[in-house]
Amino acid sequence: PAELIVAETAGFCFGVQRAADLVFSCLDAGEPVCTLGPLIHNRQFVEELAARGVAVVENPSEDADKRRIVIRSHGVARSVYDEMDALGIPYTDATCPFVRKIHRIAASVPEDGMLVVVGDETHPEVQGIVGHCRGEVRVVSSPEEISAIPNEYFARKSSLFFVCQTTFQKNVWEKCAGIAKKVCTNAKIFDTICNATSLRQQEAARLAEKSDVMIVIGGSHSSNTAKLAAICRPFCRTVQIETASQLDPADFVGARSIAITAGASTPARIIKEVHETMSEILENQNQEELSFEEMLN
Ligand code: F3S
Repeated sequence: PAELIVAETAGFCFGVQRAADLVFSCLDAGEPVCTLGPLIHNRQFVEELAARGVAVVENPSEDADKRRIVIRSHGVARSVYDEMDALGIPYTDATCPFVRKIHRIAASVPEDGMLVVVGDETHPEVQGIVGHCRGEVRVVSSPEEISAIPNEYFARKSSLFFVCQTTFQKNVWEKCAGIAKKVCTNAKIFDTICNATSLRQQEAARLAEKSDVMIVIGGSHSSNTAKLAAICRPFCRTVQIETASQLDPADFVGARSIAITAGASTPARIIKEVHETMSEILENQNQEELSFEEMLN
């Protein structure tokens, strides 16, 4: 029979899994909860949470019932904690510990200091980081944007801190950090990139290289899933699906080794279902091959 492997890094990273576990432990304890923004961008998972009564609110005052709020792994600004405290709303903080670390760095910037965040200013994680700094903050997304800030400007600040959005592209951050070192010799530069994404991509490439077919599970609009599939495609036949029901047995005829990986917002349950369905498909094909051989003998 063909070999079937599931990547160790398939699906949720540590921080997202922790946030999901925290939501489920509240539900299991019978406590009604809501999340501040969708916990993850995966339709099946959001529907599963909704079916268990988890509401999504955009700000703490929105929920008239004052249900427990779970802060998702992206984290939120200081002002959101203050608002929840003022309203007397209970909350569970599922901010990823790697993001918490950036919040602490941001909070340590003095009022006459400056924080430069390398990242996407529209991303909720970046907005949360910005909201922990008492000094001035600039968000930049390219080395050119740092170069464009006049040197005298940096010189006026008592201290300068550089951090990076956890999921930002490593090569862009490295260029930014390089420029920061040159223009501000006294800058404190913190490499806050999280390697969960690159580890998932590296493992996918390693598996694709030695497999006949690679299955990549994830939302059809998920960009990190599309990226995973693009990484695998040069090595072997690559099938991208959202759920087990999209598996087509014809794709696996003659395959001797098959590997499964999944994008960052694919729940473990969906990965498990794909694994089970694939095992059945392979088992059936194995039976067919055996009876074909018997016929020939
Ligand atoms: Fe995930 Fe936390 Fe890294 S949420 S991507 S483990 S920063």
